[in-house]
Amino acid sequence: MFKWITKENINKIKFDDFLTLEEVKHNLENNPFGKYLILKEDTILGYIYYSDIYDRVEINNFLVKDIHRNCGLGNKILKLFTENVEKSITLEVRVDNDNAIHLYKKYGFKEVSIRKNYYKGIDGILMEKEAKN
Ligand SMILES: CC(C)(COP(=O)(O)OP(=O)(O)OC[C@H]1O[C@@H](n2cnc3c(N)ncnc32)[C@H](O)[C@@H]1OP(=O)(O)O)[C@@H](O)C(=O)NCCC(=O)NCCS
Repeated sequence: MFKWITKENINKIKFDDFLTLEEVKHNLENNPFGKYLILKEDTILGYIYYSDIYDRVEINNFLVKDIHRNCGLGNKILKLFTENVEKSITLEVRVDNDNAIHLYKKYGFKEVSIRKNYYKGIDGILMEKEAKN
């Protein structure tokens, strides 16, 4: 089941060790644009933490619980996210993160530029998915 979480409905979900209430609270209290899309069954399986900034959206973090990776959950989360977000979406990803880059391209993101040493010695790629008309 997918849940869209903001400061307003943070108490409607049971968080756990993978994604704690403290972490989500901290991020949403310190980032006025912060929101989450969470995939939860019995426990939280994965999520996208993003910033919804006026006319654009930035993905801050996209994570699937490690024991559930490579089973299609990342596809499921990114598909639902990109189907529902109408605005332009940007993100940074490490150049060596092949499976994440593969998924982003699969769901319509294009490489915009390289950010030298973005990850302490490792370059980042700025990717963007254009806004829907
Ligand atoms: C990135 C991440 C969210 C993907 O979640 P996931 O549940 O493992 O993703 P899926 O199983 O749905 O899909 C993985 C895809 O990567 C592909 N893949 C796996 N290894 C790959 C490789 N070495 N090179 C290219 N593609 C690869 C798989 O074939 C699959 O694509 P497909 O469905 O088109 O066949 C997960 O690996 C993760 O949490 N990583 C750590 C956090 C992270 O790096 N997040 C991205 C930050 S920008």
